[in-house]
Amino acid sequence: MKIYLDTGNVQEIEEAAKLGILDGVTTNPTLIAKEGRDFKTVVKDIVKIMKKYCKNDFTVSAEVTDTSSSEKIIKRARELAKIDSHIMVKIPLIPVGIEAVSVLSKEKIKTNVTLCFSSNQALLAAKAGATVVSPFVGRVDDEGFDGIELISDIKTIFDNYNFKTEILAASIRSARDARDCSLVGCDIATIPYGVFSKMFYNPLTNIGLVKFEHDWDDYQKKLKNCN
Ligand code: E4P
Repeated sequence: MKIYLDTGNVQEIEEAAKLGILDGVTTNPTLIAKEGRDFKTVVKDIVKIMKKYCKNDFTVSAEVTDTSSSEKIIKRARELAKIDSHIMVKIPLIPVGIEAVSVLSKEKIKTNVTLCFSSNQALLAAKAGATVVSPFVGRVDDEGFDGIELISDIKTIFDNYNFKTEILAASIRSARDARDCSLVGCDIATIPYGVFSKMFYNPLTNIGLVKFEHDWDDYQKKLKNCN
């Protein structure tokens, strides 16, 4: 499963990217607004960090904000795609959004169809030629439904018809969500930095490390006393 970081914060991206296991970054208007910086500058900074540390096939998702017509979405998508070849344009799953994706996919502009909450919506995004579709696992769970079951259903549909569109699990809230996404064969999960950090954690790793270090120190002292 590819791992993307779900943030607009360049410090967080640098921390994760230098580990060499990051495949991309997703942002949205809320995440960019949190940074209080110019949109284009943030996106350019993210691309720069990813180029420094990651393999060349990463993507950085940047979302369109004016969604009042397909023409406006297409115009903005073309502008965003021009920033860098790694940009994936995020477009909401609404009729004008799907209309725009149908046009942009023919121009080979990478698209991330966002705000997906049902398998029927995912099917429509795939038919339009979306590069990825983003079902929102956490927000589906919040409503009392099953976000991971949605990922699994979409995977079945995409496999049934050999769609090339990849499934990008968004709105990930826990390390357990991340694990469950990989268990059902999700292509990508975009993960907030806090959850990403927790994926490393297991108390037995820390306990084991402390014991190894302690035993090694003891052994060195013994060797010193013998000489
Ligand atoms: C990323 O593509 C989505 O915009 C993001 O994962 C939404 O997460 P949230 O539901 O925690 O806001």
